Amino acid sequence: MNYIKSRTVLKHKISKSIMALAILFYSHTGFAHTIYLYKNPSKPIEERINDLLSKMTLEEKIGQMNQLNYNPKNPDLKKAIKEGKVGSVLNIVGADEVNDFQRIAVQQSRLGIPLIIGRDVIHGFKTIFPIPLGQAASFEPDVVKIGARVAATEARERGVNWTFAPMLDISRDARWGRIAESLGEDPYLASILGVAMVKGFQGASLSNQNSIAACLKHFVGYGAAEGGRDYNSTNIPAHLMRNVYFPPFKKAVEAGAATVMTSFNDNDGIPASADSFILKQVLRKEWGFKGFVVSDWHSVVEMIVHGFAADKKDAASLSANAGLDMEMASGTYIQYLPELIKEGKVPVSIIDDAVKSILRIKFSLGLFENPYTQSDAPSTIYSKEHLQAARNVAVRSAVLLKNDKQVLPLGEKTKIAVIGPMADAQRDQLGTWVFDGEKQQTVTPLKALQTEYNHVNYSYEPGLRYSRDRDTSAFENVVNAVKQADVAVVFLGEEAILSGEAHSLSNLNLIGKQSELLAAVKSVGKPVILVIMAGRPLTIARDLPYADAVLYSFHPGTMGGPAIMDLLFGRANPSGKLPVTFVKEVGQIPMYYNHNNTGRPAPSQVTTIDQLPLEAKQSSLGYTSFYLDSGKDPLYPFGYGLSYTSFQYSDLKLSASTIKKGERLEIQVKLKNIGKYNGAEVAQLYIQDKVGSIVRPVKELKGFQKIELNAGESRILKFELTCDDLAFYGKDSMRKCEAGDFNVWVGGSSATELQSTFKLE
Ligand code: NOJ
Repeated sequence: MNYIKSRTVLKHKISKSIMALAILFYSHTGFAHTIYLYKNPSKPIEERINDLLSKMTLEEKIGQMNQLNYNPKNPDLKKAIKEGKVGSVLNIVGADEVNDFQRIAVQQSRLGIPLIIGRDVIHGFKTIFPIPLGQAASFEPDVVKIGARVAATEARERGVNWTFAPMLDISRDARWGRIAESLGEDPYLASILGVAMVKGFQGASLSNQNSIAACLKHFVGYGAAEGGRDYNSTNIPAHLMRNVYFPPFKKAVEAGAATVMTSFNDNDGIPASADSFILKQVLRKEWGFKGFVVSDWHSVVEMIVHGFAADKKDAASLSANAGLDMEMASGTYIQYLPELIKEGKVPVSIIDDAVKSILRIKFSLGLFENPYTQSDAPSTIYSKEHLQAARNVAVRSAVLLKNDKQVLPLGEKTKIAVIGPMADAQRDQLGTWVFDGEKQQTVTPLKALQTEYNHVNYSYEPGLRYSRDRDTSAFENVVNAVKQADVAVVFLGEEAILSGEAHSLSNLNLIGKQSELLAAVKSVGKPVILVIMAGRPLTIARDLPYADAVLYSFHPGTMGGPAIMDLLFGRANPSGKLPVTFVKEVGQIPMYYNHNNTGRPAPSQVTTIDQLPLEAKQSSLGYTSFYLDSGKDPLYPFGYGLSYTSFQYSDLKLSASTIKKGERLEIQVKLKNIGKYNGAEVAQLYIQDKVGSIVRPVKELKGFQKIELNAGESRILKFELTCDDLAFYGKDSMRKCEAGDFNVWVGGSSATELQSTFKLE
């Protein structure tokens, strides 16, 4: 990758110098007027933007605000580009294909403005990494960054210079299929990892030839869809918006993200694509965002169906006036903005602002200097380094949920029966949002056993052909295979198509006959290892008794197979932690660790249905907040995850019992690896502001560190808190830290009990 980077930087420098020489030549020969300032790379970008804007007709400006989908059957697309009526095309892929379109924009349109080429490069381009929710389980910004870096390098090679990622929607509902694309339920974790992803995509500079522009989506609140049903309305109060849903976007904007996408949902009755409060007030005014905002696919025209816009013209007017710079796919801007401007319903200043923002990103990407993709450059796609990176990320993203009697890791001499529909599911292991990755490249667990791990003695009986399969006729073969083995490793989960956009579920149990398959395997009496590949936290409470160990790999991507083998055989030690709460029953949703307290929280022990006496008095249980059937706790809390070794936290010390605003509190804890294996632990710092002007969550993550410790090794970890870390937005939408008492915890999950207190004066 370094070679490519230096080669492309060199190329960029050479083309800049050629341009500068040309300008010198022209100015000396009296032809200076033929070279426009905006084409001069040595001029500041803002000057270039203004120069170009001053030369554009109104139609050309509106053209920049129009993004169209590539459709090979549509001859009008090329014509529209030539006429300057298209600013961006999405979904063209391939150096030659993109160059073909770019040539029309650059060489045949009047002003030669290059196109920005968008594509959903979500968790890899060709080399597929674990789904974002899986990557979030690594709790490692560097892991997330490398995934995005590889994706950017591969995508740019094929002409894509803009990805619609990262998705920063806080997701607290596993029914929502797009939880797979999210970085989980916590604003702090999603902020840190979201920034890492942006940096990975955009590289050291957007103009590097292996960088692509990031797009923060979906602004905003989309993950809070009522009932977890995709596209549904949200009702997020202002302070929750600011404290929970905005932070990842704000941090990623501060980190230099190039673009933002509006969401499909209406929040509190206003569809995001026409919400001037979030686009103008928050994004532009408060956060100073300088890139551009694109709508989601058809989200402008869909405001008609929402019942918010009367017709297409109204929709265009509402979105443009709200500050939406580019319309994806639905074409109302190009059609109606000219007359809306003539009628005085949309001011020209709105158009100018939008176009400036779009041009700013095109200039920053270096597209005016380097519009084309080199099609004969050596390819990095599926390179050894990229596959190795995908494998490492898959290792770091898996979460060990259970390991009774230390049944894992397995010895490489163990005879294993490989069971289950996900053991060799080349497509499904890749997960949702895979447009470009090829299933033929996937290394499944079975494939890993046939190749790198072929010294292992194994048999293979899938039992079910795919996750939804209900045909149990092969169970007998499964049972026979397990009888011949020392251990059964059962690969269950969900097909890729069961998660992702528009794939919500109301039942999160293992689908089809998978639970029955697991029970049949267990009935043999051998140790059972369950590996789950899924796009979301499934409700596996009823399956746990049938598994001695459970490894949750999410959809682990191209190299998931070898990564899982590395973990099962102990060549690597699991270190992932849950980025989202795992519930026992779907009816517990929404359940997330950083909730507010009720006035009547449940006691530590609650009486559930089985213990309830017949005709008991209504008052006999007391009056507290829990479910009679599923109790008060989740199956696994946020931040939870085991290792083959054990970690002990002790000696929690605070540098002071009281701090003043402006001072720092240092928190120290001793972490010791008290087990037999070297391993990595994610130490997590939580706080609680005990009394607030609005109710504060029972716990909030405020820091984490992933620490590698050899067996027996210990280390003192240090965290810091300042007033800024303790601050929140109140009813008045102002951010402040409030004086008072705080709890602080450090530990290996959000359920940690190692606690201390301090006061802020
Ligand atoms: C709709 C999705 O909501 C969005 O995330 C995606 O980027 C666009 N389609 C483009 O494919």
